[in-house]
Amino acid sequence: MTKMIKVQNLTKIYRTPIKSGNPLRDFFARQYKQSIALDNISFKIGENELVGLIGPNGAGKTTTMKILSGILYPTGGDIKVLGYTPSDKKPEFLRQIAFVMGQKNQLVWELPATDAFELTRTVYGIDKKHFRQTVDNLCELLNCSSFINQPVKTLSLGQRMRVELINSLIHRPKILFLDEPTIGLDIFAQTTIINFIKEYQERYQSTIILTSHYMQDVQRLAKRVIIINHGRIIFDGQLTRLISKYSQEKTVNIILNHLLPEKFHLPDDIKCQYDFPTLKLNVRKEDIASILAYLLKEIEFNDVTIEDEPIEEVIKKIFTSSQNKESRPK
Ligand SMILES: Nc1ncnc2c1ncn2[C@@H]1O[C@H](COP(=O)(O)OP(=O)(O)OP(=O)(O)O)[C@@H](O)[C@H]1O
Ligand SMILES: [Mg+2]
Repeated sequence: MTKMIKVQNLTKIYRTPIKSGNPLRDFFARQYKQSIALDNISFKIGENELVGLIGPNGAGKTTTMKILSGILYPTGGDIKVLGYTPSDKKPEFLRQIAFVMGQKNQLVWELPATDAFELTRTVYGIDKKHFRQTVDNLCELLNCSSFINQPVKTLSLGQRMRVELINSLIHRPKILFLDEPTIGLDIFAQTTIINFIKEYQERYQSTIILTSHYMQDVQRLAKRVIIINHGRIIFDGQLTRLISKYSQEKTVNIILNHLLPEKFHLPDDIKCQYDFPTLKLNVRKEDIASILAYLLKEIEFNDVTIEDEPIEEVIKKIFTSSQNKESRPK
C-alpha cells in the first residue's frame, strides 16, 4: 500500500508568552511558558485508508491534523504527506488536501454557499464542467439542493456542515482531514454526515483522518484507530483488535419468562442487574459458555443477547492504564 502520510518522531511544543507586568521587560526579554502538545509520535497512513484519531480534550488531535495539513510548524520530526513537507505549503501540496473543522465556519457568512463554491472553483482553477459535475454529485449525496442558494448565516448547523463539506471537496482532494465534523449535530444530521463520509470514501477512494468524540462515528467509519493521550500514541491498530485486547467482558441481556427462582445463584464476581423481566449480567469472556449453560438449565427466558462492552468503556480503560503507567515511579 502506498504510504500517503509518514510521520516520524513528531514533536510540537507550544510557546505562550507570560506577562510579567513590566511592559519594557515583556518587550525586550519576554518569558515563555512551554507546553508539549505532541511528544515524539510516529505513524504511517496508506492510500484509501480511513483512520480515526481519538483521545480526550487536549490530547493533541487537532495539533496533529494542523501539522499534517501545513497550518502549523512542527517543533521536531520528519513529516511527509503525499511526499511533501506540509509546512513548506507548496501549492501542489495544498491543492491535494482539505481540512474541515466542525467547530469553525470556513464560509463567508453573508453569501450563499453557491457563491463560496464558485470562489473555490476560481481559486483552484477547476474547469466549469468538472465543477458542475462534482457539485451536483456532492449535493445529491448530501441532499443539499434546497438550501445552497441561501446565505450561509441562515443555515442550520447541520445544513452549514453539509455545505462546508461540499466546499472542501470541490477540488477533489486526495487527503481529507476531518476534525469533529459532527460536533453539536443532532442524531439525524450526524448520521447524514457519517453516511456521506462513508459513501464519499468508497466512491472517490480518498485517504481520510477523522477525529470525533462520538465513538459511534469512529466505529461506523474507521477500521483503524490511533489513540493519543497527553501527546503520545497509546494505541495504533485495528478497532477490532482494540476491543479483543482490552475488553475482558461481555454483557448478557436476558428477558425472563418468570421471576428468578429462589435457588438461582450466580458467582459473586458477576455484576448483575435485575429488574423483572430484564436480567443483565457482565460476564468475563472466558466464563460466557459456562454461564449460558447454567442459565439454560435453571431459568426460562424469552430472549437473550450478548453484546461487546461499549467502546467508550474500553477506551476509558486504556486511558486509565496508560495514566497509571505514566504515574508509576521509574
Ligand atoms: N495555539 C496554542 N497555543 C498554546 N497551546 C496550545 C495551542 N493550541 C493547542 N494548545 C495546547 O496543546 C494541547 C493539544 O491541543 P489540541 O487542540 O491539539 O487537542 P485536541 O486533542 O484537539 O483536543 P479537543 O478534543 O479538545 O479538540 C492542549 O493542551 C492545548 O491547550
Ligand atoms: Mg481538537
